[in-house]
Amino acid sequence: MSVVQLDVHLTDADAAAALRADVARGLTSEPKVLPPKWFYDARGSELFERITELPEYYPTRTERALLESSVDEIAAASGADTIVELGSGSSAKTRLLLDAFARAGTLRRYVPQDVSEAALRGALDQLTEEYPGLELRGVVGDFTRDLGRLPGGGRRMIAFLGGTIGNLLPAARAQFLAHVRSVLEPGEQLLLGTGLVVAPEVVVPAYDDAAGVTAEFNRNVLHVLNRELGADFEPEAFDHVALWDAENEWIEMRLRAQRAMTVHVRELGLTVRFAEGEELCTEVSAKFRRNGVREMLAGAGFELTRWWADPLDRFGLSLATAVRPGEPVR
Ligand code: SAH
Ligand code: AVI
Repeated sequence: MSVVQLDVHLTDADAAAALRADVARGLTSEPKVLPPKWFYDARGSELFERITELPEYYPTRTERALLESSVDEIAAASGADTIVELGSGSSAKTRLLLDAFARAGTLRRYVPQDVSEAALRGALDQLTEEYPGLELRGVVGDFTRDLGRLPGGGRRMIAFLGGTIGNLLPAARAQFLAHVRSVLEPGEQLLLGTGLVVAPEVVVPAYDDAAGVTAEFNRNVLHVLNRELGADFEPEAFDHVALWDAENEWIEMRLRAQRAMTVHVRELGLTVRFAEGEELCTEVSAKFRRNGVREMLAGAGFELTRWWADPLDRFGLSLATAVRPGEPVR
């Protein structure tokens, strides 16, 4: 029998307050901006899963192939008995890790954490059936603020896959990694997936697919605002935009108003005006280079111990070890 527990570190009331604050700030700033975590209600999580199957969206299948070829080395190098996963979503690729750590004989506990309760519950329901005997402890939480309450004990490896770290802006990214380091003991590990810098002809279609699934995912945030805050956005009156920013080496997703519009956000008593063509930034997805990843990890107190990349250098997987504070990072 599996043992499943769901801890709620982000209550509905906390999430509602955070959404209100983000929307009040983001829709009154210049340019307008919304944090990407609000894409992921049940529909948004489903749309993301559909994205991962699109022919243009190479990151998921590339990371999966990398995991397939490296999981046994990861398990041997890690020796962890607990895998904590941040932004775990459907935990689809994680099964490769669970299987390898089970083969290595160390796996005892899996702790998926996600802001989307729907995605987390769906994953836990399936994992309970598939992994009898594994201790499962789901955590509904925000990885930018709730890490301090993750369960401790045992020997942990934190997995942060999918390239989701690229959805944080540089300052938030550094703060996040320092936070991850602060909840680990020296010697514990971080397994980090990062999209790598590739040609715009490859990366742009991955965020602007022919079937329009990414466009629907992007507009989903407006549906969330309509439902949760009584807003009256017309999602179809916004065009999906995906741009490669060569200087920052990130994809930027935006929603562009097709015409001048006035939107009311009832629960905030907020009236927001969009000029024709005005854009709302909904996500950045930064791409990295190996040295940049090493430096970013070192800056937070992690030593890059192993690195894997696919033959086309589109995705990187890093195994990093938390160093003792004050100890130099090699
Ligand atoms: N790791 C999976 C899913 C990636 S999609 C994969 O590699 O395929 C990004 C996931 O992160 C979603 O499930 C989303 O709900 C979650 N997420 C986004 N922002 C978050 C935040 N601030 N805190 C916790 N989870 C978050
Ligand atoms: C979750 N994250 C890593 C995805 C990405 O590629 O940045 C989210 C996404 N946005 C558009 N498509 C997929």
